[in-house]
Amino acid sequence: MQVEQLSNEQLIKAAEKFGTPLYVYHAEKIADQYNKLKQAFSKSNVTFFYACKALTNINILKYIKSIGCNVDCSSINEAKLALHAGFNPNCILYTSNGIAFNEIEEAKNLGIHINIDSLSNLEKFGQKYKHTYPIGIRLRPNIMAGGNLKISTGHDKSKFGIPINQIEDILQIINKYNLHIKNLHIHTGSEIKDVDVFVKGIEVLFEIMPKFKELESIDLGGGFKVPYKNGDTETDINLLAEKVKEAFDNHPYNKPLQVWFEPGKFMVSECGYLITQVNVLKESNTTIFAGINSGFNHLIRPMFYDAYHKIKNISNPTGAIKHYTITGNICETDTFAWDRKINEIREEDYLVFYNAGAYGFEMSSNFNSRYKPAEVLFINNEFHLIRDKDTFEDLLKNQKTLSFL
Ligand code: LLP
Repeated sequence: MQVEQLSNEQLIKAAEKFGTPLYVYHAEKIADQYNKLKQAFSKSNVTFFYACKALTNINILKYIKSIGCNVDCSSINEAKLALHAGFNPNCILYTSNGIAFNEIEEAKNLGIHINIDSLSNLEKFGQKYKHTYPIGIRLRPNIMAGGNLKISTGHDKSKFGIPINQIEDILQIINKYNLHIKNLHIHTGSEIKDVDVFVKGIEVLFEIMPKFKELESIDLGGGFKVPYKNGDTETDINLLAEKVKEAFDNHPYNKPLQVWFEPGKFMVSECGYLITQVNVLKESNTTIFAGINSGFNHLIRPMFYDAYHKIKNISNPTGAIKHYTITGNICETDTFAWDRKINEIREEDYLVFYNAGAYGFEMSSNFNSRYKPAEVLFINNEFHLIRDKDTFEDLLKNQKTLSFL
C-alpha cells in the first residue's frame, strides 16, 4: 500500500495547532518505506539498521523499533538514545568514525555491535579485549559514489573506514590479538542511484572475505536515494535486491552470511515536512524574495549541499504561478531556492518543504540565537507533539554567568 502525502488541509491544521516553523513526521510513511525494503529483500537473509543520524527523536526511534527495524548509530549518544527507546543491545549497531577509544569501550560495555574504522582503534581493541568481544571492521573500498562530494564517503580521499589497501596491516593486528571479526562494513555515500555501486562494493569485499575466518555478516551501509524533485528517480530497490541475492547465492565463503544495510534517508526523508510562514515579501529588480520564519538554522541542506527541496504554498495552492527566491531570516545568505515557480505568495502564507524528515531537524542549530522548532508526529490519524520548540531559557541553559561582569 502506497501511503499518501499529508494533504494541504492536514498540514494547515498542524500549523494552526502548533505554530510554525514546525517539523511534521508521518509515521505510516516510515513503515511504508521499511515494508518496501523488507518485501524487496524477502528472498535474502537481510537485516536493516535504520541510520538514526537522519532523525533521532525518541518517538521516531520507538516507532522504528515497533515496526521491527534495528538501528545504526554514529555516536555513543545515539546508541544511548536507542537503548533509552527500548532497543535490545543486539539490535543496535555503532558504526564509528574518528572517535576516541573510550567511546568504543563504552559501546562494548553496552553490549552493542561495533564497526571499528581505524587501525589505531583496532590495535587498542586488540590489546584490551583480544578474542572476547566480536567486532566489525569499517573499510574504505575506494569507490566514488553518492549525490555529491560532501556526501561521498567511500572514495580514495575519504576519511571514512580503513583503506582497503591496508588489508595486510588489518590482518596483522587481527592475528596478533586473535581478534574475532564477525562483520565487514562499507558505506560509500548518500543518494546512490546506481545499483552497480553496491555490486562493486560486494566484489571488493568478496575478494578479501576469505582472509577472515569468523564472519557472520557483510554490511553494505546505507545511501539509497529518494526522489526530491518531480521526475527524480530513487534507487531501484528491487533491482538491488536481485543483484544482492545473485551475488550472495554464490558467495566465496564457507559459512552462511547475513547482509546488513543501514538506510537513513530512505526510511525517513519523505515522512517529513517543514512548515514555515512568510514574514516578508520584497520586490527586487530580478526577483521577488519571500522571506520566511526559518533559515539554515532549521534546514541546512539547501545551503550546505545545494540540495533541492520541493516547496509549496499550501495557503494558496491555486494562485497564479510566479517566480520567487525563498530566503530565511538568518543573518547570512540563507537561500532555500532561487527563482522557484510557486503559487502566488502572500505574507503569512504557509510554505511547506517536502522531504524534510532526514537530516532536517537533526542538523538544526540555535544560530542567531533563534529557537529550534517543535516536532510533531502524525500517527493513527492524529497529530502529537513530540518536541516543544525551544524557549528563551534553553538559550541560556548551559551558560555560566561570571559574577564579576
Ligand atoms: N551508514 C553510515 C555509516 C553513514 O555514514 C550514513 C550516512 C548512513 C549509513 C545513512 O546514509 P543515508 O541512507 O541516509 O544516505 N547529511 C547529509 C547526508 C550525510 C550522510 C552521512 N552518513 C544529507 O543531508 O544529505
